[in-house]
Amino acid sequence: GQTIGVFTSGGDSQGMNAAVRAVVRMGLYLGCKVYTIKEGYQGMVDGGDHIVESTWSGVSGTIEKGGTIIGSARCKAFREREGRLKAAGNLVRCGINNLVCIGGDGSLTGANLFKQEWKGLLSELYEAGEISETEMQQTMYLNIAGIVGSIDNDFCGTDMTIGTDTALHRIIEAVDAIGTTASSHQRCFVMEVMGRHCGYLALVAAMASEADFVFIPENPVASGWQEQLCGKLKQERDIGQRLNIIIVAEGAIDSHGQPITANDVKKLVTERLGYDTRVTVLGHVQRGGNPSAFDRLLASRMGAEAVMALVDASGDTPAVVIALDGNQIKRRSLMGCVKRTLYVQEAMKNKEFEKCIEARGRSFAK
Ligand code: F6P
Repeated sequence: GQTIGVFTSGGDSQGMNAAVRAVVRMGLYLGCKVYTIKEGYQGMVDGGDHIVESTWSGVSGTIEKGGTIIGSARCKAFREREGRLKAAGNLVRCGINNLVCIGGDGSLTGANLFKQEWKGLLSELYEAGEISETEMQQTMYLNIAGIVGSIDNDFCGTDMTIGTDTALHRIIEAVDAIGTTASSHQRCFVMEVMGRHCGYLALVAAMASEADFVFIPENPVASGWQEQLCGKLKQERDIGQRLNIIIVAEGAIDSHGQPITANDVKKLVTERLGYDTRVTVLGHVQRGGNPSAFDRLLASRMGAEAVMALVDASGDTPAVVIALDGNQIKRRSLMGCVKRTLYVQEAMKNKEFEKCIEARGRSFAK
């Protein structure tokens, strides 16, 4: 069987442990050797006890844990060829030429670059006497399977990323909790939620919590939004509602591209309507805590599929990303999905929102 390395990279998200667990267990089940690589690319560069062979029981009791117990890091060294050369040496000496990368678009792009350079790195290591001829021959090609872990749901090619559902649960719990105290005091709450440049969490949280108003980056509010917002809040109060909830995505902007913050909204509501208004910034609470059942299952299915993709790979097979499409788990071109994700980020920057929404929503073939 193959030798597989699995690691988590970039920002953590709930369900990453479930994915690692599934990779380890599916790998062992199929007769592979599986190593966990601690602290993401940093552990790969540092080697030593950062690269540990895993066992069936080694991943017991991890499916329910949030974050990533094998650690994650943003690694500067891996951005340089020098760092990637060291990383390749450490992998080859363990016989690893299959990687499951669990992370966001940046981490997956890094993995693909590593794959493209692999042959050159190996020759260099061999010439420097760092690896033997046998080691080089046994690890000739690097196979990559990516799994997207991010609460933002900002990756093209998969319907859901691991952690989004749990983050949504955290947000909804918080909005429900705020709702009871808000109602008691007839207050208005402006709640800021995460998502970086993606409004998914804010939008679906607003729908699921019966919020009065939501600000998202993809739909910048046009001039006159202040009147529209205040009119809506007043209308709700006039029909007997005792509270107002407004959700602001952290990347929300107006039609001039100016950021809209929770504090801006609070100031407006206080000045125009005189409502007792408070701001709650949910922050990293959204990224913490136990994964939901959905994320545990999604991560388990993706982890298992990632291993099957690696086992199926022969020769220099293009890198794949494991995606959810409807309720099916699919393998897609990693670079195709990364490219589309970067295209969306560019469209967002250029305020071409139609383009961005169209590209995000498209489900495309393998
Ligand atoms: O990408 C996940 C995310 O939590 C975003 O929603 C947020 O903008 C960002 O990471 C926060 O990053 P950090 O944890 O580095 O402050």
